Amino acid sequence: MQNRPQAMIIGTGAAVPEKTLTNRDFETMVDTSNEWIRARTGMEVRHVVGPDEQNSDLAAAAALKALESAGLTAVDVDLIIVATISGDSGFPSTACFVQKKIGAVNAAALDIGAACAGFIYGLDLADSYIALGKAKHVLVIGSEVLSRITDYSDRNTCVLFGDGAGAAVLAPSDGERGILGTFIKSDGRLSELLYIEGLGTKIPPSHQSVDERKHFIRMAGREVFKYAVKAMGDSAEEILMRTGLDNAAVDLLISHQANLRIIEATARRINLPAERVFINIEKYGNTSSASIPLALDEAVRSGRIQPGQLLVLVAFGAGFTWGSAAIRY
Ligand code: ACO
Repeated sequence: MQNRPQAMIIGTGAAVPEKTLTNRDFETMVDTSNEWIRARTGMEVRHVVGPDEQNSDLAAAAALKALESAGLTAVDVDLIIVATISGDSGFPSTACFVQKKIGAVNAAALDIGAACAGFIYGLDLADSYIALGKAKHVLVIGSEVLSRITDYSDRNTCVLFGDGAGAAVLAPSDGERGILGTFIKSDGRLSELLYIEGLGTKIPPSHQSVDERKHFIRMAGREVFKYAVKAMGDSAEEILMRTGLDNAAVDLLISHQANLRIIEATARRINLPAERVFINIEKYGNTSSASIPLALDEAVRSGRIQPGQLLVLVAFGAGFTWGSAAIRY
């Protein structure tokens, strides 16, 4: 249990591509309906990149906005952490491309792959670096171009995913506000319930692998749903327990936006009324690691989050990976 916060968020930013796909668009692509998608997921619109937009473009745009709101410039950054499962290329890291695009010449840059829990993993890492005095200003970015790894002929998955990026700048805490605690966990035994079999070195790209559509996301939705509800509820309870906070003190739950029903179940586990739960899934769909920082930035800029409020962040994703964070904003 952490008594005093070591690191605090001093700026946030977000970026999404202009192009959108609505539920109605999917009605012309696969056997689905606006009514099914709304009822089963809560989604209405997702943003998707155009042919010339890359993951690192979205990440860099979100990072620059976060730096601006923090009153810093790119040369002030010591460490760039990009959480992503849809990076620009096999290597180097997308974080290095972001570093080049924003001109963060004094930073070290690395990617982490923890799928939808990636931003929480990034916060955990940034908090540790700052607490150890190994970095002063850390950019944590969640950025995804899931539209390029989504099979638009598979109705089980294609309606779910969108593109976008969100970023936060972390700095040493003022002693009152900041990250009160983080919790991360994974279970690799369940990796094949949600994964891309190809795209790595196990199955190098070939005509056969492309014909067999092995470069797209595959998900056992019903199974994933079951685990997500349990792991996200457990994570919310765990972070309150670790920080010694009461659920009544939580001002806002910012959950990974994968399914409205999962978010509502997580809120019920810690007895939070609807007005203390942030939801923007209808506008973006599931943007994996970008979903929490996109929501955080929207909540900050709209005034929904005020300084001093207590936030609980909760995520679950492929791996499986999951986690949570408690933040005195
Ligand atoms: N339109 C119409 N029908 C559909 C669609 C669709 N887009 N997709 C599935 N269906 C059908 C199924 O084929 C099934 O039909 P059947 O009963 O004839 O077989 C029926 O709807 C019900 O399918 P379920 O999978 O039980 O539907 P469910 O209510 O579970 O909703 C969903 C599916 C939305 C995918 C849900 O399971 C879910 O949200 N899962 C978790 C997603 C998640 O949390 N992912 C983790 C993070 S993602 C990451 O890490 C990248």
